Amino acid sequence: MRPLLIANWKMNPPSPREASGLARAICRGFRAHPRIDIIVAPPFPFITEVRSIFGKSASLAAQDVAPFSSGAYTGAVSAPMLKHLGVRAVIIGHSERRRFYGETDEVIHQKIKMALGAGLRPILAIGEDLPDSHDVVPQVLRDQLTRALVGIPKKKLSHLIVAYEPVWAIGSGKADTPDNATRRAIYIRKLLTKMLSNRIADRIPILYGGSVTSKNAASFLVDDIRGMDGLLVGGASLKAEEFLSIARLISRR
Ligand code: PGA
Repeated sequence: MRPLLIANWKMNPPSPREASGLARAICRGFRAHPRIDIIVAPPFPFITEVRSIFGKSASLAAQDVAPFSSGAYTGAVSAPMLKHLGVRAVIIGHSERRRFYGETDEVIHQKIKMALGAGLRPILAIGEDLPDSHDVVPQVLRDQLTRALVGIPKKKLSHLIVAYEPVWAIGSGKADTPDNATRRAIYIRKLLTKMLSNRIADRIPILYGGSVTSKNAASFLVDDIRGMDGLLVGGASLKAEEFLSIARLISRR
């Protein structure tokens, strides 16, 4: 599987001009990294412009989707609307959505169904809250994964992407250790194999996210065993040079 690199811009940058500038700077550098797949998730209002800048060099993702298909849901954006914009994937279950918008596993489950129904790839984010809760991590990951995916036809889930993002590592400057991340990737794949099948689980990229920088990026992708298949990058994706360094490092793996 080619390494997958996802940029989550969150609520940045502040203006369309800066968003286009960032997209252009990243896009120029990407042409040099044909051996990895890139997905960029800008805020909704910048999607069309950013998509036209990247063209075929990167896929576009949304950072959220409504748990309903259409109707009177003020402020919401549906999966079919995203599909019409040319969006290919959508981040679902990010800890910032869980925390600041009170999203439950049930809402996340509905969003995954909506995304799949519209032909979008769900990027499901899961992870534990606290750094010292090692013994409860397997349980947290199992619960979040099963509640998000319960009852969804297995075949549809071959388009899933899973991002392991320990909440304590997000934006904190304290990334998880590569050894832990590898252990989590193996565990998540084991869960997916049990829930789906070996063949389907094998096709699902599992990514690490949480304070990834050019200093630690390469260490999360190991050679000798199948661990993480890529990275989900927040803060460091807002600096073109830094993001391009990460791309360069993982395209050499
Ligand atoms: P970070 O964010 O890279 O800034 O820690 C990652 C994420 O929230 O997806």
